[in-house]
Amino acid sequence: MKEIERQGGMISIAYDHPGCATSTAWAKKPREPELGEKTILIERIKRLLKEQDAVLVAHYYVHPDLQDLADATGGCVSDSLDMANFGHQHPAQTLVVAGVRFMGETAKILNPEKRVLMPDLDANCSLDLGCPVEEFTAFCDAHPDRTVVVYANTSAAVKARADWVVTSSIALPIVKHLKEQGQKILWAPDRHLGHYIQQQSGADMLLWQGSCVVHDEFKAKELADLKAQHPDAKVLVHPESPPAVVQLADVVGSTTQLIKATQNLAANKFIVATDNGILHRMKTLSPDKVFLEAPTAGEGATCTSCNHCPWMAMNGLLNLAEALEKGKNEIQVDPVIGRRAKVSIERMLDFARQIGLPTRGIGNA
Ligand code: 13P
Ligand code: SF4
Repeated sequence: MKEIERQGGMISIAYDHPGCATSTAWAKKPREPELGEKTILIERIKRLLKEQDAVLVAHYYVHPDLQDLADATGGCVSDSLDMANFGHQHPAQTLVVAGVRFMGETAKILNPEKRVLMPDLDANCSLDLGCPVEEFTAFCDAHPDRTVVVYANTSAAVKARADWVVTSSIALPIVKHLKEQGQKILWAPDRHLGHYIQQQSGADMLLWQGSCVVHDEFKAKELADLKAQHPDAKVLVHPESPPAVVQLADVVGSTTQLIKATQNLAANKFIVATDNGILHRMKTLSPDKVFLEAPTAGEGATCTSCNHCPWMAMNGLLNLAEALEKGKNEIQVDPVIGRRAKVSIERMLDFARQIGLPTRGIGNA
């Protein structure tokens, strides 16, 4: 571990972390059912959800079929903060989480008495994989004077070591609040989100060096070129993207905040720098508007992910039906770890309520 940068209150720490095997995830992407098969599968899942007192909670990045199914069955499609809120408030005894593993774990931590199923338990996240709990604990222990703030894209064990959990929609208000209280922050794992929050808040932040393999691929020069070709387009960027990409944004925000921008801004064209799964919701809400994907290719492109998260892609109708039918892929969280992690997640949910952050709980679509 070595200090690599000290700039305006922000210290970056260099870490080696294991490469993320995206190829393993792509290899597990479920096959696309044919049209007739799809209709039968959807009816089967609807019946199973009812019979098993289950609700589908999906992220905006998963396959459009799953998003539509969650909508059609009284579930929810949203960002990670809203998914946590919705599952927590919904009376169903089984939560089926279509997303990545940390989302299923968060649902289980908040609702230990409920059954939480996922289409595939191997659906991980490069940020979670890049922040192993043993190294993270050593990092925290080496900086006992700092308040530990972790992004929701982490394991239950990492959350259990944190003082606060945040998602991209609430990270900035929480860090500003901590700064006002004179606290110094240890931030993990996403270095780009950490950098953005530090710049916006001016807080003293020590950053873990994780990154998202999807957002890391967006290219500033090619984005600037595309922007020049479409001067009427607004640029929407998720803050997990590199700083040079964030700098070109008209709006920086969580997935929900970016979708809201497509509805609220006086523009008909948008360049979108986040996972392209989000385009389904954007196009459904604004069918007459034009959406362009921000470039991931260009000089220096590695094309390991190309605009779509390989772990989100592991969710499909086939493995969802199987999980429900066979009671497969149940999320388990060690109860001791779960109880500790719950404290830092609930701190975030309470804070969201206190500041009146609009989240999608039950009856608040
Ligand atoms: P949101 O909370 O903005 O949906 O982000 C989750 C995520 O994994 C982005 O890559
Ligand atoms: Fe993780 Fe990136 Fe996938 Fe989001 S898009 S789940 S941050 S790897």
